[in-house]
Amino acid sequence: MLLLFTLVLFTFDFTISMPLLPEGNFVSANLTGISNIAKPGCQTKCGNLTVKYPFGIGEGCYLDDGFELTCNSTHYDPPELFIGSSSITIHNISDSEMRIFNTIAYACYDEAGVPDISDGCIQLKESYRTFSQKNKFTVIGCDDFVLMNGKLNEIDFVSGCLGLCSIESVVPNGNCSGIGCCQASIPKGLRYIISSFKTFGNHTSVMSLNPCSFAFLAEEGSFDFGGVNDLKDRKFNTRTNPIVPIVVDWVVGGEGSCSQATACKGNSSCNDVDTGGYRCSCKEGYEGNPYLDQGCQDINECEDKTNFPCYGFCTNTPGSYNCTCLHGYEGTDGKSADGCRHVAKDSKFSEVVISLGIYTFT
Ligand SMILES: *[C@@H]1O[C@H](CO)[C@@H](O)[C@H](O)[C@H]1NC(C)=O
Ligand SMILES: *[C@@H]1O[C@H](CO)[C@@H](O)[C@H](O)[C@H]1NC(C)=O
Ligand SMILES: *[C@@H]1O[C@H](CO)[C@@H](O)[C@H](O)[C@H]1NC(C)=O
Ligand SMILES: *[C@@H]1O[C@H](CO)[C@@H](O)[C@H](O)[C@H]1NC(C)=O
Ligand SMILES: *[C@@H]1O[C@H](CO)[C@@H](O)[C@H](O)[C@H]1NC(C)=O
Ligand SMILES: *[C@@H]1O[C@H](CO)[C@@H](O)[C@H](O)[C@H]1NC(C)=O
Ligand SMILES: *[C@@H]1O[C@H](CO)[C@@H](O)[C@H](O)[C@H]1NC(C)=O
Ligand SMILES: *[C@@H]1O[C@H](CO)[C@@H](O)[C@H](O)[C@H]1NC(C)=O
Repeated sequence: MLLLFTLVLFTFDFTISMPLLPEGNFVSANLTGISNIAKPGCQTKCGNLTVKYPFGIGEGCYLDDGFELTCNSTHYDPPELFIGSSSITIHNISDSEMRIFNTIAYACYDEAGVPDISDGCIQLKESYRTFSQKNKFTVIGCDDFVLMNGKLNEIDFVSGCLGLCSIESVVPNGNCSGIGCCQASIPKGLRYIISSFKTFGNHTSVMSLNPCSFAFLAEEGSFDFGGVNDLKDRKFNTRTNPIVPIVVDWVVGGEGSCSQATACKGNSSCNDVDTGGYRCSCKEGYEGNPYLDQGCQDINECEDKTNFPCYGFCTNTPGSYNCTCLHGYEGTDGKSADGCRHVAKDSKFSEVVISLGIYTFT
């Protein structure tokens, strides 16, 4: 048997004088530079969390009172980051959200049906933060109706969830399906939440299956109902507080809007948020921190061919880039693969053909 593989490669050997990219002429933004994160002299790390302006730790490091954070490294290892002087602990912060550690409300009943209750109240600072609609109000219990009381722009709001079950065998694992676990959506703009527990029979008939009921906000997808294990566990709250975060949306400008915006610095734009306030973002072609002077820095697109294709000669420009055809090619658009066409008469290139054969005999 004879197998024959033939591979033919065509390569074009350019002999034209190809201009070298004048990399040295560009001021390339050092986007990992510390100046892009916080005000000069301010702490940027708390444990392994990065604290970016408008948030800040210490006097003069934050935009205004709503963005003051406290890093406690003396009593916590690793250090913990708190919102202002509150007891709300931050899990992480992004450009529009933060995740905070949970505070789970509970009602635990003794054999006589007498409850020990904690209402799990969480108050976000007015006009800076709201609970994200990514959260679900979640109730774990077999004999309970839990009301979620909140405030929506000064108007009281009440909703609730029903947790019912009678015997172990009907309680599913994993899905919060209404049996022993109930989840409800929350309205946009909620800044305050407190749970009030109502019970049908003080848990006396379900005591062995479910002594406590629990109520909390949970980022959708972050909570897997553990079924009977969760219903029986009196320590469900302390176990779950650190692993099921609450998502909080943050804005600057309080009740204001972009028309009064002062927080968005050079080369950034302002975006109104429908629940009040606004956020800033770097303009297209810039990246960095839009809340700091010189925070948005020009992207050198020529250094990122994957996201900014150029099949010719690339020149960075403020906010964009030019891509012109190489010598010997013509066209108007070097940014697309077939934007430049070869001009035969001007070029001196040779064509090399390589033939490669692999023969196998058996
Ligand atoms: C960018 O700035 C950081 C911090 O100032 C520094 O450690 C890093 O070496 C700089 N990178 C470049 C490419 O200049
Ligand atoms: C941050 O630190 C905590 C606690 O040490 C650790 O569990 C977590 O994985 C760390 N996160 C990152 C992104 O390094
Ligand atoms: C750290 O936390 C402890 C205990 O909650 C508190 O006594 C202490 O004042 C805090 N330190 C700072 C710097 O906030
Ligand atoms: C914050 O934490 C959540 C949950 O652990 C994770 O999914 C998310 O990617 C994190 N976000 C940032 C900006 O670190
Ligand atoms: C959850 O419900 C979905 C759809 O009803 C189902 O496909 C899935 O198997 C259930 N998961 C568990 C762990 O019960
Ligand atoms: C539940 O407990 C409350 C107060 O502990 C008591 O007033 C009420 O009668 C009890 N209800 C039932 C159905 O046991
Ligand atoms: C905006 O970006 C341009 C080009 O990078 C720079 O020259 C200019 O100083 C920036 N403007 C401000 C206000 O930072
Ligand atoms: C980029 O292209 C524009 C339009 O063709 C031209 O006006 C400008 O001078 C070019 N800039 C650079 C830096 O080459």
